[in-house]
Amino acid sequence: MEQTLTADEWERLRRFHFARVARRYAVRRGVLRHLLGRYLSIPPSEVSFVYGPQQKPALAEPLAKTGLHFNLSDSGELAVYAFAVEQAIGVDIEDHRDYPDARQLAQRFFSPAETAWLSQQPDEQISLAFLRCWTCKEAVVKALGDGLMAPLQEFTVAHWQTPPGLIWPTAPAGKWSVHLLNPPAHFSAALTVTSPIAAIHEQHFHFRL
Ligand SMILES: CC(C)(COP(=O)(O)OP(=O)(O)OC[C@H]1O[C@@H](n2cnc3c(N)ncnc32)[C@H](O)[C@@H]1OP(=O)(O)O)[C@@H](O)C(=O)NCCC(=O)NCCS
Repeated sequence: MEQTLTADEWERLRRFHFARVARRYAVRRGVLRHLLGRYLSIPPSEVSFVYGPQQKPALAEPLAKTGLHFNLSDSGELAVYAFAVEQAIGVDIEDHRDYPDARQLAQRFFSPAETAWLSQQPDEQISLAFLRCWTCKEAVVKALGDGLMAPLQEFTVAHWQTPPGLIWPTAPAGKWSVHLLNPPAHFSAALTVTSPIAAIHEQHFHFRL
């Protein structure tokens, strides 16, 4: 994977303090290059990126003209890569940790409707419920490219509806879709695109590090 990385990616690799974290970045970025290379029919090392104001990576010109968008997320030993054509995409995966302060976190980051939903969840399921909502919100702000700088309390992901709805009166794009993914046990994941979803193809693969 390291052989496919560019000088700026090597620079980032060197800045990581812990070897394990650096190795995970190399694998994460190397796999991204391989997958994009397959979609674009070019060698992984020839994939080139540009970065948004909040560091969201996207394909550089002339590759951007293909209309291929992507996003990725990792947590623990899992990573999720998401690809879409002609529409922004955001994805988030989180492992199931305990959030004893989930209700306080919700007051800080969730909309009133999401906070109200969370308040109805039983204590023994509060961490899972929090994560379910969080992954949806992070997928939305990652599609946008703003990350956690976005006004998280101003929009609601109604993930309790089928299909989940996004309620955002001042949404920066048209019709958004939110989809809850099916990661392996002990993970929650969601993806968002900025138009209706026609079909989703999910593939799982394993790397031994
Ligand atoms: C985007 C963000 C929510 C990701 O949080 P996270 O849970 O730690 O990370 P995830 O595993 O879900 O996603 C990481 C991947 O998302 C992508 N990404 C980075 N910034 C992104 C952004 N602003 N929007 C969407 N995707 C982004 C990258 O591919 C990154 O992978 P990489 O580290 O291999 O480059 C968080 O980093 C953020 O809010 N960033 C914006 C604010 C900021 O820090 N800006 C820096 C200005 S210099």
